[in-house]
Amino acid sequence: MAQARNLDAADLALLNKDGPLPLAAADQMSENVIGTFGLPLSVALNFVVNGKEYVVPMAIEEPSVVAAASNAAKLAKASGGFKAAYTGSIMIGQVQLVQVKDMEEAKKKLEKNKSKIIEQANSDAKYLTAYGGGVTALQWRVILTDRGQMLIVEFLVNVVDAMGANMVNTTLERMAPTLEEMTGGKSRLKILSNLATQRMASATAVWKAEDIGGADVAEGILDAWTMAMADPYRRSTHNKGVMNGIDAVAVALGNDWRAVEAGAHSYAALKGAALTTYKLDADGNIEGKILLPLAVGTVGGSMKANPAAAMCQRILGAKTSGELAQVMAAVGLAQNFAALRAMASEGIQKGHMRLHARHIAMSAGASEVEVDEVVKRMTAGNAINEAGAKKALDEMRKAKGKN
Ligand code: MEV
Repeated sequence: MAQARNLDAADLALLNKDGPLPLAAADQMSENVIGTFGLPLSVALNFVVNGKEYVVPMAIEEPSVVAAASNAAKLAKASGGFKAAYTGSIMIGQVQLVQVKDMEEAKKKLEKNKSKIIEQANSDAKYLTAYGGGVTALQWRVILTDRGQMLIVEFLVNVVDAMGANMVNTTLERMAPTLEEMTGGKSRLKILSNLATQRMASATAVWKAEDIGGADVAEGILDAWTMAMADPYRRSTHNKGVMNGIDAVAVALGNDWRAVEAGAHSYAALKGAALTTYKLDADGNIEGKILLPLAVGTVGGSMKANPAAAMCQRILGAKTSGELAQVMAAVGLAQNFAALRAMASEGIQKGHMRLHARHIAMSAGASEVEVDEVVKRMTAGNAINEAGAKKALDEMRKAKGKN
C-alpha cells in the first residue's frame, strides 16, 4: 500500500508510531489496522453536577467547544450547577417476526407466557444477572409494512453499567427460537434499538441574566431556541451543538458515540423537538433543560482495551453509567447554552476565529512560544488566514531580529 500510494518514510513512521492507544491493542480492536489516529484530548472545567465537581475529559478537534462548555459550566456554578437525573439503564431489544399466520393467536400466546419467557431469558444468563441486570419486561407491537404485517417483540433489559449492546443482542438471539415456536413466525432481526427511550438522562441549570449579558441576551436565547422548536433546519444545527459536547465525552471515555448520536437524533425526530428547552424564571434568569436517551457505559466496550479511555474514566470519576449519563447531559446542555448565548450576543465567529487563529498560526510555522503573538497580530490586522499568519510571523521575527 505504501508503494501504491507513494507513502514516504515520514508517513510510515507516523503509521508505526505507538500513541496513547498502542498499535498492538488497536490491531485487536478493529480490522485492517494500519495505525492509530489522534485527536486533541482536553478537559472541560467547572462542572458541578448534583453537587459533585467534575473534570470532564473531551476528545474533539473543533476549536471553542471545550472553552464554551467550561465557560457555561462556570456561569451555571453561580446558581448551584446542574441538577441531573437518570431513568435507569433499560435498553430495548427487538426481535422481528415475519410470516406470522395468526397474529391474534400469537399475541395471546405471548401474553399467556410472558413471565415464562422473561424467566427463560434470565436463566443461565450470567452475562446479565452476574452484574445485577436482566430482562425486566416484555412487550410487542404489530407493525404494518410494505411486506405485510410483522410482529415485533421487545425485551426490556437492565444492562446496569454497560452500554449493553452485547448483553441485549445475546439475549435476543438466545430467545428467538422460543418466540418462533410460540408465535409460529420466522425470526429475522434480533438487535437492540438505539432509540433508548427507557434510558433517559436529564439536566437543568439556571444562568443569571446579569452574568450572561443582560435581559436582551436572555431574550435572544429564547428566540434562538424557539426557532429550533419551529424549524427542522435550525433544529438540526441546534442539536448538533448539543452533541458537540456529548460526543466529545463519549469518545474520550471509549463509548460508542455513534449509538449516542443515533439515539439523540432519532429521539429529537420522534418528538419533533429540540433536545433542550429554555424559559425565563421569575427573576428574568434563563432556565435550561435537556432530556435525551443516553446509552453509555462505564464497563465493557473498548474501555479496557484503550488505556486512554480507562484513564479518562479515572479523571472523570463517574462510577456508574447513570452518573456518566448525567454528566454528559449537563455537558450537552452547557454546550448548547454556550452556542445560543454566543449567537445571541457577539456571534459565534469572533470567539471561534480567535481559537481557530491558533491553528492557522501553527500551520504557518509559528512555534509554541510564537503562537500567541502571531494570533494577536493577525487579529489586530483583521487577517485571520494563512497569508495573514505568514505576514504576522514574518513581521514578528523581523522585529525580534530573527530574520
Ligand atoms: C458548531 O459546531 C455548533 C453550532 O452551530 C451550534 C448551534 O448553531 O447552535 C454553533
